[in-house]
Amino acid sequence: MKQLTRQQLRQHTRELRNQLSTVQQQQASLQLIEQCLSHAKLQSAQHIALYLAHDGELNPLPLIKELWQQGKSVYLPVLHPFNPGHLLFLHYHSQSIMVNNKYGISEPKLDVTKVCPVAKLDIIFTPLVAFDVAGNRMGMGGGYYDRTLANTIDHKPYAMGLAHDCQLVTQLPIAAWDVPLAEIITPTRIYK
Ligand SMILES: Nc1ncnc2c1ncn2[C@@H]1O[C@H](COP(=O)(O)OP(=O)(O)O)[C@@H](O)[C@H]1O
Ligand SMILES: [Mg+2]
Repeated sequence: MKQLTRQQLRQHTRELRNQLSTVQQQQASLQLIEQCLSHAKLQSAQHIALYLAHDGELNPLPLIKELWQQGKSVYLPVLHPFNPGHLLFLHYHSQSIMVNNKYGISEPKLDVTKVCPVAKLDIIFTPLVAFDVAGNRMGMGGGYYDRTLANTIDHKPYAMGLAHDCQLVTQLPIAAWDVPLAEIITPTRIYK
């Protein structure tokens, strides 16, 4: 098979996930809850970063609502206001005031009192565009999670990718700065 460039592979797998129907997306979100609630890492975690789905990503909102029910604290990524390429993680609850960022992604309105230091997070669930069985991750091309995870020590926070099964690829072109994930959870499998 011809080796695709990073950009070709991004485009290809983004198209695949965008072809999933609304019903398939909803079913995947419910399967994700089952996968996560039986996961020991999640059961013992209190401070959990997730994301709001965009561009066909696996939608974790039903999982977020379940975590709220369980009394867990959920955080969402927010583009750093003066440190380009970097993320902040803000507490997300049912009353959070949301704004759209420059990518059109909904994020909590910046409030310094709601910022959680990355080291305090137990788990960061990342969205991704493509992954391989070894846990390598390709994102949308901004490098945001690579920068976030570059400074983590001893898997604190523990990085887990969320993806549809169709986002698994056999050959992922990896760059020196790409940080692999500890696990990737799909609606049907866990890659560890
Ligand atoms: N830890 C880092 N420090 C500085 N720049 C980084 C870091 N990680 C990634 N980058 C930069 O971010 C850009 C996008 O990274 P890439 O891995 O292609 O995106 P993504 O992970 O979103 O698919 C690259 O130009 C890369 O140099
Ligand atoms: Mg990367």
